[in-house]
Amino acid sequence: MKILGIETSCDETAAAVVEDGKTVLSSCVISQIDLHRPYAGVVPEIASRAHVSNIVPLIRRSLKEADCKAENISGIAVTRGPGLAGALLVGLSAAKALAFVLEKPLIGVDHLMAHIYASFLTESPPSFPFIALLVSGGHTLLLRLRSWTDCTVMGTTIDDAVGEAYDKVARMLGLSYPGGPVIDEWAQKGNERAIEFPKITMYNKKKGNYNFSYSGLKTAVMYYLKKGEKFSLEDICASFQRSALSVLQEKTLRLCEQEHISTLVLAGGVAANKNLRAGFQKIPGLDLHIPPLKLCTDNAAMVAGMGSIGPMEKIFDNPDLKIYSKQNLKMHEGVFV
Ligand code: KG4
Ligand code: ZN
Repeated sequence: MKILGIETSCDETAAAVVEDGKTVLSSCVISQIDLHRPYAGVVPEIASRAHVSNIVPLIRRSLKEADCKAENISGIAVTRGPGLAGALLVGLSAAKALAFVLEKPLIGVDHLMAHIYASFLTESPPSFPFIALLVSGGHTLLLRLRSWTDCTVMGTTIDDAVGEAYDKVARMLGLSYPGGPVIDEWAQKGNERAIEFPKITMYNKKKGNYNFSYSGLKTAVMYYLKKGEKFSLEDICASFQRSALSVLQEKTLRLCEQEHISTLVLAGGVAANKNLRAGFQKIPGLDLHIPPLKLCTDNAAMVAGMGSIGPMEKIFDNPDLKIYSKQNLKMHEGVFV
């Protein structure tokens, strides 16, 4: 069973073909980073227009690289949300048109669940139950998954996402967009104890809060820079990174302990971070799953893979699929009818 995946939720146009929910036959991505870099963030209108230009050639390329004729795919999986509305509509419209013309099932996929699915495209996929830490430019989520249809949000950010904090701090420091990889690189050469930035834990003894907050840390960096003290870029990046990541690690491990679950899946663009990966790799007894770098950032292989669950569980084919822009996980599982 070959599924064509389509992803246009933000600033990457992507198309991929995945076989049996496991084997990536092709995974094509056109990044728009260069278009958005002058604005130090994603401009929705520019993103939608670029998706319109890229989508058809990219679908063609992904079928060609997979050596697969359009009529031989079993279904079309597409990201419904969360993401930028205009951007999502481009992918969904393309998927609807293809499904109509080819008379194939149309499978709606949640972008966040697809990020988690990326770990299932590896040689040794995780087994349920597991905790997932999903960290990207738009989301900071701690989830407990007992199965694909039993998924609970245990914590989320109350303001900025962790990737967003990286991007905003990079902008303050005059570094290029996206900020995550650049700060990560500078941080490797710095002293992470040089500056004491706050660690926003918001831990509530009674409620055992697993939520996150990043706007305070971002503001602390801003005030530090305003003081005009001489600083080394390496040290400021390393110190910011320590504050941003230590709370992620602490809360994730505390949740694993509370739930008696030792399998952890890291997902999303920030899972590419060197220190975040290394921090978890050091924990004894933790069954850690992190997708390879190219599957951590936005791609369509994760969408096609997640979409394969639809036909397997006989839930698919709804020509009336709609997009949603906000996080929707409390109400739904990963695949939509
Ligand atoms: O998952 P993703 O590709 O797109 C979203 O769905 O948001 O994540 C992009 C985010 C950006 O904020 C980027 O700065 C961050 O992931 N990122 C990183 C690293 N690589 C990418 N953050 C920290 N360290 C990295 N190495
Ligand atoms: Zn993403």
